[in-house]
Amino acid sequence: MTLIIGGGIAAYKSLDLIRRLKDRGIHVRCVMTRAAQQFVTPLTAGALADERCYTDLFDAQSEFDAGHIRLARDTDLIVVAPATADLMAKMAQGHADDLATAILLATNRPVLMAPAMNPLMWANAATKRNVAQLARDGIRFIGPNSGEMAEANEAGIGRMSEPLEIAAAADALLRPPQARPLTGKKILITAGPTHEPIDPVRYIANRSSGKQGFAIAASAAEAGADVTLISGPVDLDDPPGVQMIHVESARDMLAQVEAALPADIAIFAAAVADWRVAHAGDQKIKKTATGIPPLALIENPDILATVAKRRHDRPKLVIGFAAETENLIVNATLKLARKGCDWIVANDVSPATGVMGGDRNTVHLITRMGKQTHVDSWPVMTKEEVADALVAKIVSTIGQQPA
Ligand code: C5P
Repeated sequence: MTLIIGGGIAAYKSLDLIRRLKDRGIHVRCVMTRAAQQFVTPLTAGALADERCYTDLFDAQSEFDAGHIRLARDTDLIVVAPATADLMAKMAQGHADDLATAILLATNRPVLMAPAMNPLMWANAATKRNVAQLARDGIRFIGPNSGEMAEANEAGIGRMSEPLEIAAAADALLRPPQARPLTGKKILITAGPTHEPIDPVRYIANRSSGKQGFAIAASAAEAGADVTLISGPVDLDDPPGVQMIHVESARDMLAQVEAALPADIAIFAAAVADWRVAHAGDQKIKKTATGIPPLALIENPDILATVAKRRHDRPKLVIGFAAETENLIVNATLKLARKGCDWIVANDVSPATGVMGGDRNTVHLITRMGKQTHVDSWPVMTKEEVADALVAKIVSTIGQQPA
């Protein structure tokens, strides 16, 4: 593939992107705009890519055979990272006054842009117009993300997506359609614990790490699905290529899940706290001589059951998790019926298994067909392998259903 590096401070991340793409076995050929060379050198990019970096439209070494046309066609994907406001404006207008824009105008290959700019430039009406035009022209986008900018004290939307995210998106585009069997399917996934406030500094939580739900999100995204991952507080990086929504409490999680509907498939891997404090304090509760304050608890909404019972926009496939410490299959099967889901992933979380927070999981997949249930017991696997197996099962099931 061809990587066009535009002239922005995020260009330094594109050097890391070259390595990330190579890690995935992707051959990278680099092109740099003149402005990009103010930030990183063609020599570095060329050394990382193992091939000279192209910079000039009128380059005696490459232009004798209409080099820009060859560079535009002799590739299976073009990634522009960072895509600056100026580069996008030129492309939207069809300019071709340097090598990068000439390649973009001459190509008939898919183009993925990773914009990076100051938040005010991203929010500007002209940029919005250009991005909308490019999207209409079939250009794909990744990011920008929100976060801190290079300029001191500036934050907002405009940060380039992380190299890992861009590499995953590029890899997905390079794979043949049969390797992305969930293309066009929207999947909603919950993960992690919820934090239920007691007061502004204390909360009730549980030991979920979020690893299993995040692994499922990554695996579904790799299979081409449009994934929305709604997670409680976890210590994990956002999986590449998913729409990430961070929440704190069960009620926040339910609100975001409902806002993200409709979806084709919903997977509820979150360990939602069953109860919350009835009257969370606005101020930190003080230790007093009168003793320990009573904490009245009330029940949280059951997100899985709420979605599984929706009438008009119930996802076609609703999958729950049942973490049990005893009578695993019996309890999980009862839960499947009680919550109204189609499948339940039952796992033994008794302390001896080390599942909580660990990297491995032993699960049984219980599926329902009308009144009949079927149990599939899987061997001990890593959480990534469980995720891949679940996604494979989804693919084979969805494949058998009429669209
Ligand atoms: O009842 P229990 O918590 O064991 O059920 C587990 C399943 O239900 C999981 O899929 C979990 O994500 C979901 N759940 C939920 N909302 C709750 C409690 C559980 O979505 N309040």
